[in-house]
Amino acid sequence: MSAHRRDFIRLVGGGAVFAALPGLTACEAGPDPRAAWTNPGAGEHDPRRIALAYGLLAPNPHNMQPWMADLREAGAITLYIDPSHTLPVTDASGRQILIGSGGFLELLRMSAAEQGLEAKIIPFPEGDPEPRLDGRPFARVTFAPGGTRDPLFAHALARRTSRIPFETRPVPSDAAARIAAAALPGVRAGFALDPARIAVLKEIAYAGANIEAHTPTAQHESCRLTFIGAHDVAAHRYGVSIEGPAIEAAHALGLLTQAKMEQPGTWAFNQSLDLMKHLADTAQGFVWLTTPGNSRAEQLLAGRSYLRINTQAAAEGLAMHPWSQPLQEYPTMAGLLRRTHQVLAPQGGRVQMFVRIGYAKPVPPAPRRGLAAQIRNA
Ligand SMILES: Cc1cc2nc3c(=O)[nH]c(=O)nc-3n(C[C@H](O)[C@H](O)[C@H](O)COP(=O)(O)O)c2cc1C
Repeated sequence: MSAHRRDFIRLVGGGAVFAALPGLTACEAGPDPRAAWTNPGAGEHDPRRIALAYGLLAPNPHNMQPWMADLREAGAITLYIDPSHTLPVTDASGRQILIGSGGFLELLRMSAAEQGLEAKIIPFPEGDPEPRLDGRPFARVTFAPGGTRDPLFAHALARRTSRIPFETRPVPSDAAARIAAAALPGVRAGFALDPARIAVLKEIAYAGANIEAHTPTAQHESCRLTFIGAHDVAAHRYGVSIEGPAIEAAHALGLLTQAKMEQPGTWAFNQSLDLMKHLADTAQGFVWLTTPGNSRAEQLLAGRSYLRINTQAAAEGLAMHPWSQPLQEYPTMAGLLRRTHQVLAPQGGRVQMFVRIGYAKPVPPAPRRGLAAQIRNA
């Protein structure tokens, strides 16, 4: 690898460049894209709106934030998926979108409990959407006095997805065990910390990234949802954001654009893939979640569990990075999807999340569209 390439990895992967730039994020493109993380629900009086202000901070695929709330019924929320915020190529069935929706429900439930309310979640009140998501609600939530405060809630605002290289410090097995134990019943959490097993999983992770990069429809979807530079990030407030002085410079020079990232052979394409290799190589362990079947209810439960394990990782001071390509369902991934299951779930089941873990420098929170954007009927 040339010094030129290593330099890009250091800059893009070093974390600092992802930090919000004061004066640049609050630009004319829109409000601060990270404002939703500061005092969520402040100024709101309806407990449902406060709970929603937390729910929308959940981890979710490609940061699409597809959740739309109908608040017309007093004491209840009916939740829908916005079809314009889904991933038709890399997640045609909507499996990942529902995992993100499970995380949203779990955080909403925790916030309600903080407010002395029990949020009762009724998944798919009008039936399961199969084989694709449709216009029916993914959940109805009712609120009644009660609820038990969840100790994980104290770490809700510290949870992140970390797309930077991890330190070489090993992950203690007791911390990994506590993280796995945060999953809900019905979801099996596994982890690998020994070097031989990690080596196999790193290879699977990079193979997934490589297949996606060379599958034009999938690569196009991921690149068109990657926003480059503070202006575009603030203008969208969803998708994956890359920011910082080096990024702004490469973007201004036309070297780093969505179109260039998509195209094999360009500097941007090669750099992105090199970075993925480096990220996989710095994994200090992997964690995964498996459900016995792959029903819509299990997908939501896996998402609720992922929110919990990601939050427990934050409590342990550990960074997490979901790595979904090997779990995706498009034809070019089929062989790797099978192999991933042979390795991670030889006894059967559907692996729903595959996650890199390790210690890392802090990263800033990801943008959010904010409460007003997620309410369809007040
Ligand atoms: C089902 C699911 C799949 C995800 N897959 C990936 C992935 O393959 N690569 C990645 O970098 N992040 C992945 N993420 C993390 C999201 O991109 C991240 O949650 C989102 O950008 C918001 O950022 P935050 O978690 O820091 O709030 C995934 C998250 C979920 C819930």
